[in-house]
Amino acid sequence: MELYAGIEQAAEVFKTTRKLVTFSGAGMSAESGIPTFRDPGGIWDQFDPAEVGTGPGLLNTLSRMPEKIRAFINETIRVFLQAQPNPGHLALGTLEQIGILRSVVTQNVDNLHQEAGNKNVIEMHGNLFRQRCLACEAKKPFGREEYLGRVKNALEEMTTFDLPSIMEMLPKCDCGSPMRPDVVMFGEAVQGLYESFQEADSCDVMLVLGTSGVVYPAAALPQKAKESGATVIEINPGDSAYYGVADIRLQGTTGEILPRIVQRIQNA
Ligand code: APR
Repeated sequence: MELYAGIEQAAEVFKTTRKLVTFSGAGMSAESGIPTFRDPGGIWDQFDPAEVGTGPGLLNTLSRMPEKIRAFINETIRVFLQAQPNPGHLALGTLEQIGILRSVVTQNVDNLHQEAGNKNVIEMHGNLFRQRCLACEAKKPFGREEYLGRVKNALEEMTTFDLPSIMEMLPKCDCGSPMRPDVVMFGEAVQGLYESFQEADSCDVMLVLGTSGVVYPAAALPQKAKESGATVIEINPGDSAYYGVADIRLQGTTGEILPRIVQRIQNA
């Protein structure tokens, strides 16, 4: 479908609903300078998920090749410290404000949906800046810049880069134990699974934004929404697993297309 017609059609669909749910992935934050995982040059091109994407993998790599973990942490700080909500995030904030968007279900851990003003955000893969106690599992939110600044300073002062010095660097829980980022690593249980499937089941439009759709159980949501009778609309400049699922597919970036849809709705 020609992009202009697709934007028109999506705006018409949005105007008829109060139960729009979005499902977002790394592509949503690409225009905030955060690399996606599977695009050329993405995170899994730079780092091996087996070495940095699981708890055992991280610990194993830290003992055998600590410089790889240091490089991974430094790159994470560099990328996430400069990131800001992009026009795509801000457009979703507006859609929630005008009562069309009911919830954001995201695979992203960058906190940018919340910083763009969305209140109802379900983070299936956690949040990099919320910390979770390694002992009592208590959780504590940190600001993005506060947490990254703290880690950046601690790394700069660190003389030996090893597990004890990393544990020393981590923020402490009220119970005294170290706290790790509350992100879901491969092999760990996702968060908000029940709520996310509830949203997919009960929405009448699901907007799929910047995800390749290859990591389950999150990736099952668009198909779930379709089976429950929802209209599925996808925005993606490249490929994804949703060709047969999306009713309307807009070929382009979320940062460019979402504001144009909101503009059509507000100028109507
Ligand atoms: N706007 C919209 N979509 C984009 C943009 C953009 N500017 N740039 C890239 N994309 C699309 C790509 O075409 C691709 O389909 O975003 C998608 C990114 O796919 P992935 O890199 O696989 O990211 P994601 O789907 O979020 O990965 C899911 O995998 O590694 C795990 O936990 C990690 O949450 C992540 C999960």
